[in-house]
Amino acid sequence: MSGEINQTLARAYCLKVPKNLGEKAIRAVSKLSIGDKNLKILRVKDFLLIPIKGELSEEQMNEVRREIPQFEILIQSFPKREEHARSILDFLEDKMPPHLLASLPRSIDFVGEVAILEIPEELVGYKHLIGEAVLQTFKRVKSVLAKSSGIGGIYRIREYEIIAGSEDTETVHREYGCKYYLDPRKAYFSPRLSYEHYRVASQVRDGETIIDMFAGVGPFSILIAKMHANVRVYAIDINPDAIRYLERNIHANDVYGKVTPVLGDAKEVVENKLRGLADRIIMNLPEKSIEYIDAACAALRKTGGIIHYYRFAEGPHAVENVKAELIKGIEISKRKVETVLSERIVKEVAPFKWQIVIDAKVK
Ligand SMILES: C[S@@+](CC[C@H](N)C(=O)[O-])C[C@H]1O[C@@H](n2cnc3c(N)ncnc32)[C@H](O)[C@@H]1O
Repeated sequence: MSGEINQTLARAYCLKVPKNLGEKAIRAVSKLSIGDKNLKILRVKDFLLIPIKGELSEEQMNEVRREIPQFEILIQSFPKREEHARSILDFLEDKMPPHLLASLPRSIDFVGEVAILEIPEELVGYKHLIGEAVLQTFKRVKSVLAKSSGIGGIYRIREYEIIAGSEDTETVHREYGCKYYLDPRKAYFSPRLSYEHYRVASQVRDGETIIDMFAGVGPFSILIAKMHANVRVYAIDINPDAIRYLERNIHANDVYGKVTPVLGDAKEVVENKLRGLADRIIMNLPEKSIEYIDAACAALRKTGGIIHYYRFAEGPHAVENVKAELIKGIEISKRKVETVLSERIVKEVAPFKWQIVIDAKVK
């Protein structure tokens, strides 16, 4: 599950101040107790819009004028803060300079009892306090992790710093009626892919053999086995910790015998053991999947099957480019795309960069 701290919009009076006066203005609004803490401060070009509780009296206007040399009063739409965001703010309010409260992380990912967030540079000195605020607000959270690197390496995991709570970050995450034991510091898992796991699992038909080439702790494989009575899934991963959790998850979800975990490089595993037997292939290694199209084609039955191809891409033609790359890769591997069944953006991974999935029927 991911938690977006800001969601719906509300109209409110606000102070519009030039950005260079932003810190001074936020301090003044806090000192005069006129700020609306239910709403989020906005940055628009070179200005800050600071929501206030309502129209200001003449006396309040004079006080604001004494504190801020230049401002305007406007009515504007602001994103509302959810209750938990307000309670994080309440916890931190008297412990941090008010202008820094505006930079608090906008979203938190929850992987079981572990909360994961990004601490902006200007808040690094307050990271432990922010971690404590998260622990206080979400009673089920046992550890709060701050991202300290991007996702990287063969195992696609990032580095984290524990900023509050337990050092033991192993947890159990629940998704679509399945439970996944995992440690986000040892194996890849993203709660933001939950719908994608379900979308693919829903397309599987009775009797299929599926190869999940980059299976992680098993969120595609296990859900497929849980949702369908008569399927066989080979779940490959190169990370021994991911496979260890996958084995545990197979038992925890009662799908033993339907999901076969295989430790190794997907290309080698297919070459050595799984040629020509799959009806469906899942290729969720977006930064490198292009290098495995030949293996995926080798793994498909001679009569054909379906490939779910994940890729990162940017720019205005991102989806088209990924589709073209897949079609070409399949042709190089001496197979053909019969139909592109679906193409969709799975999630934004950076500004103007997306994870994209193409579902293709291959013959
Ligand atoms: C982006 S994660 C996806 C995990 C899982 N499918 C999910 O949705 O959570 C990619 C996984 O591929 C694994 N991996 C990377 N290179 C691999 C390779 N050559 N062969 C098999 N697995 C690999 C990583 O260890 C990682 O667990």
